[in-house]
Amino acid sequence: MNNFSFLAERSEYRDFSKDCIDAEAAFNSSFDSCVKLVRTAVDAAVKWVYAADEKISGDGDNLKVLISNPAFGQIVGKNLVGKLNYCRKVGNAAIHNEREFSAAEAETCLRNLFDFVQWIDRRYGKKFTARTFDGTCDGDDILRTELCGMKLATPIFAASGTFGFGEEFENFVDLKRLGGVMVKCITLKPRRGNSGVRITETPSGMLNSIGLENPGVEKFLSEILPRIKHKMNIVVNVSGSSVEDYGELARLLDVDGVSAIELNISCPNVKDGGIIFGTDARQAALVTAAAKSATKKPVIVKLSPNVTDITAIARAVESAGADALSLINTLMGMEINIYTRRPTLGNLTGGLSGGAIKPVAVRMVWQVAQAVNVPIIGMGGIRSAADSAEFFLAGASAVAVGTANFAEPSITMKIADDLKTYLRGCKLNNIRELVGKVAT
Ligand SMILES: Cc1cc2nc3c(=O)[nH]c(=O)nc-3n(C[C@H](O)[C@H](O)[C@H](O)COP(=O)(O)O)c2cc1C
Repeated sequence: MNNFSFLAERSEYRDFSKDCIDAEAAFNSSFDSCVKLVRTAVDAAVKWVYAADEKISGDGDNLKVLISNPAFGQIVGKNLVGKLNYCRKVGNAAIHNEREFSAAEAETCLRNLFDFVQWIDRRYGKKFTARTFDGTCDGDDILRTELCGMKLATPIFAASGTFGFGEEFENFVDLKRLGGVMVKCITLKPRRGNSGVRITETPSGMLNSIGLENPGVEKFLSEILPRIKHKMNIVVNVSGSSVEDYGELARLLDVDGVSAIELNISCPNVKDGGIIFGTDARQAALVTAAAKSATKKPVIVKLSPNVTDITAIARAVESAGADALSLINTLMGMEINIYTRRPTLGNLTGGLSGGAIKPVAVRMVWQVAQAVNVPIIGMGGIRSAADSAEFFLAGASAVAVGTANFAEPSITMKIADDLKTYLRGCKLNNIRELVGKVAT
């Protein structure tokens, strides 16, 4: 790793360049020292910005106060402020010996620091050159994998509908460390979603009936995609009310910045949300073929658990050309308020997700893995690395985390870190070695 040496060539950065270089060098000997030194470097670099920029003034030595100054935030941006705060908090915890730090956490600190000093160089430097972070020796190599031609930093995706368009999570998650984000479902026309109560908590999960609220494909392409592309692998989840809709959406989304298209043929919350396609093998195949013939992007088909035999649908969409399958979507459920005697949700029924559905999802991934040859992205109730490991063992090549993001927005990073520890404990060199290894 040699990410910070360029700073040494610029005399104007002498106040913080050595701290950055020292922090990076420490990575090879101690992750705890590394994160402590990153904190020192952040401190020095933030103070340098205060001295260099007449638009911000603030005194005091307190890094927290300096970072949270609105004037500083306005110049630096919310995203970087979040990254600096991460370094500050992790560094403080290391200084106070609260716990030991992992390679991944140290690397995240270094990456955040790197983003900040690049920003400094871009804004105040005389000869800025864009650089990409050169990963660590240890880093995420054990998790790096591939799916339908997409290079995945980790096999952990954020599941559609639970992670917005990814950008909302930038302060909590290093988006580049995700396999990708399955963005909220997009339809041809904008949709307002269902009315009334749309979410209710259940034992170990939640029921939702959002009803595919989204801005429509046109706005997604013109406003949202330009903002988020290149930040992460973007899988666009789409839904339609006819076979032609899916073909048209796939055609429109065959653009730079979209890594893959995920066909939602399994939304239980609206009549035209695709579930009629997801519960009928012939219809599922037609939708898949329509999308495949309209795009060169990988087509992932998201299966519904609300069927008797999920393998029949899986086989049908594989034969129609699906490049991968994702499963499962939510299970149809209902809750009744015993005092009003009315269903809690405005839509009467909703989709059950979260921990409660994990055993169903693992079973379905295991069954489908034996029925098809295309890769599977497993999801349903994943809240920890241990949960994700069950899906890999059952045959998933990657996993997606949904409901758990609501309770803990940075959960995907923790799952990645803990999964590495688990794999090392199993003496495995890469996540691929775990896929399908359940002993039956
Ligand atoms: C609030 C909410 C909104 C969702 N929206 C979508 C969606 O737009 N498209 C889709 O394919 N799945 C959607 N899902 C399903 C999730 O992507 C995922 O398949 C499911 O929740 C199971 O994973 P989990 O238990 O980790 O949440 C949604 C789930 C929730 C909880």
